[in-house]
Amino acid sequence: MAALAPAPSDLPDPSVAELIGTRPHLAYHVRDGLVMEGVPLVRIARELGTPTWVYGAGTIRARLASLQAAVQSAGLPAHVHYAVKANDHLAVLRLMEAGGAGADVVSEGELLRAREAGIPASHIVFSGVGKTLRELRLALAEDIAQINVESAEELDMLSAVATEMGRTARVALRVNPDVDAGTHAKISTGRARDKFGIAYADIPALYARAASLSGLSPVGLATHIGSQILSLAPYRAAYARVADLVRDLRADGQNIEVVDCGGGLGIGYRDEPGLDPAGLAGALKGCFGNLDVRLMLEPGRWLVAPAGVLLASVVLVKRMPGQRFVVLDAAMNDLVRPAMYEAFHGLVPLSPIAAKAAMSPADIVGPVCESGDTFARGRMLPELEAADFVALLDAGAYGAVMSSTYNARPLAAAAMVDGERWAVIRDRQTHQALWEHERVPDFAR
Ligand code: LLP
Repeated sequence: MAALAPAPSDLPDPSVAELIGTRPHLAYHVRDGLVMEGVPLVRIARELGTPTWVYGAGTIRARLASLQAAVQSAGLPAHVHYAVKANDHLAVLRLMEAGGAGADVVSEGELLRAREAGIPASHIVFSGVGKTLRELRLALAEDIAQINVESAEELDMLSAVATEMGRTARVALRVNPDVDAGTHAKISTGRARDKFGIAYADIPALYARAASLSGLSPVGLATHIGSQILSLAPYRAAYARVADLVRDLRADGQNIEVVDCGGGLGIGYRDEPGLDPAGLAGALKGCFGNLDVRLMLEPGRWLVAPAGVLLASVVLVKRMPGQRFVVLDAAMNDLVRPAMYEAFHGLVPLSPIAAKAAMSPADIVGPVCESGDTFARGRMLPELEAADFVALLDAGAYGAVMSSTYNARPLAAAAMVDGERWAVIRDRQTHQALWEHERVPDFAR
């Protein structure tokens, strides 16, 4: 048996030069500093201020195309349904649509966003453990491609609503395969104790029930075992179990046209290799290649995370005995992943000398009044001073979408670069907007 690789946290952090050297859409230019695709990021930071999200359109297009190519070259009839939750910006959804992807949505808001971005209803799948009656009605009224049902209770709700509306819902049952994806506990979804999906043993009876209920047309199975998955083994284990179910259900005379294989493909945030799409395609082929089913994939993070950065400015550098705190104007309300999952995000200065300067350890924090508002500890960074710009890397997924206005901090601006051009894609929220929908009742005056 091969020796276990050391856990990433046992290794020294990658240097600034290593972080940039392994991200092909980013580079240091001698004069302009950090450049994304063809745009010096300092230009955007100066023009829009900070904190500001920046996404690379060329990078997103290229990643979508490479995932599609991997499944195609394995000869798989697979269609990508981008998981809107990762980054729901209309401009990002437009890129997905133009690149031939559909959408995986989990709320009324995401469904409406996807439609607003021009994604046809026939390319939209609705997932999630608690779709409301109102959401089911909208999905049926829009006649979306498929609803992934997660419980017997939801199946009955959907049958009732569809019957009342005179519609037929194309339904896939989401299988909980009881497989541990080996990822962070908060984003693991395929173990028996997780709230997601239908218990494996209950699927055959429920599938038969779906086939007998009015307003429903069962078309297949779905599974999604978690997020930021870096190894193929849990995928193979889950897909093998789902493939067994496909065979069993067909033997029972059930119709199975589709298997929705979920998302979860991990990326390298630190120095770990991301999941290889060709490897995933191989796992899909191995499990479903001979089953004559249409495959769906629901990746979010893998498509967009590496394509985004969060630009921030240094507010001040605070020195305490034996410590250097670099206090940024971005905080946990902007990018919550480090506070919420102890997630690693690379941090690099925009200045052109950054990659070569002398380094010393620093703690990188935001101004929010919680110790959890810490982006990184003990990072080797050059001297930084007030007003210097930095970029938090790999912030294109689960970044802006998870922002809050905690501490009455407005939502950050966003820009998109495409080769050498760039545009604002969201204005910075105004302070006024923070309270414009609030009312003070008479009794509180
Ligand atoms: N399909 C379903 C049913 C999902 O629940 C998810 C993610 C996806 C697809 C897309 O997964 P992805 O390919 O992006 O891993 N906020 C966390 C991640 C939560 C993922 C939730 N579900 C984070 O920042 O790491």
